[in-house]
Amino acid sequence: MEELEVRVWRSAGDGAFATYRVPRQTSQTVLDVVTYIQRELQPDLAYRYACRVGMCGSCAMSVNGKARWTCRTHVAKVAANGRLELAPLPNLPVIKDLVTDMSAFFEKWSRAKGSFSGALTRHDDFARVPPASPRRQAVDAGIECIGCGVCYASCDVVTWRPDYLGPAALNRAWTLMNDERDVDGLERLRAVAGDAGCHSCHTQGSCTERCPKALSPTAGIAGLKRMTAKAAMKGDL
Ligand code: SF4
Ligand code: SF4
Ligand code: FES
Repeated sequence: MEELEVRVWRSAGDGAFATYRVPRQTSQTVLDVVTYIQRELQPDLAYRYACRVGMCGSCAMSVNGKARWTCRTHVAKVAANGRLELAPLPNLPVIKDLVTDMSAFFEKWSRAKGSFSGALTRHDDFARVPPASPRRQAVDAGIECIGCGVCYASCDVVTWRPDYLGPAALNRAWTLMNDERDVDGLERLRAVAGDAGCHSCHTQGSCTERCPKALSPTAGIAGLKRMTAKAAMKGDL
């Protein structure tokens, strides 16, 4: 039977790669490989997943040096030579083996005011947002984020300056800035305009290149740069 040679990062801190041999299967995903190792070879291997269908965002890791979601990544696409190297996502602290601590990633969503603030109550009529309006289209282009952290792990600026809000939080802020129902826009612009915000992005686009949902945080961040510049010129920031 054909086999894969799989190097897997083990343990926190000063860890090391361990090597496993895994049988090849038709349509096998990288997550299938990790699951095989944990169930058949290394029961104490720590990794994370939930949905297995590309919705929850929990299964991302570094695969042969690139951050990817693993439940939708076929082995045939990334291991043509029969070898895989699996490691925890870069730019995040490792808890154990392939599991990273995502706290800083989600705290940055909060710092970027990444939650909706509305003014209407349930007694008010529904807001009607025309699907073809430019703002609604901008929201649609960025809304399908699953919070996987692939963009964050692929961003050089996050590596260089860990306080940078990063592509996912800024993409979220951009979608909310275009949500006609949201009333916290100025505060959000203040939150993303600072030194660790949108203006630190170098727009080289690793986040956009790697996002498994084909979103473009780079475009959203460029939009935030324009919005913050306009607000500054008006004297609002
Ligand atoms: S385009 Fe900006 S957010 Fe995206 S990877 Fe580059 S620096 Fe990071
Ligand atoms: S923007 Fe894309 S890569 Fe980044 S967290 Fe959302 S889905 Fe994942
Ligand atoms: S397990 Fe949910 S996105 Fe991969």
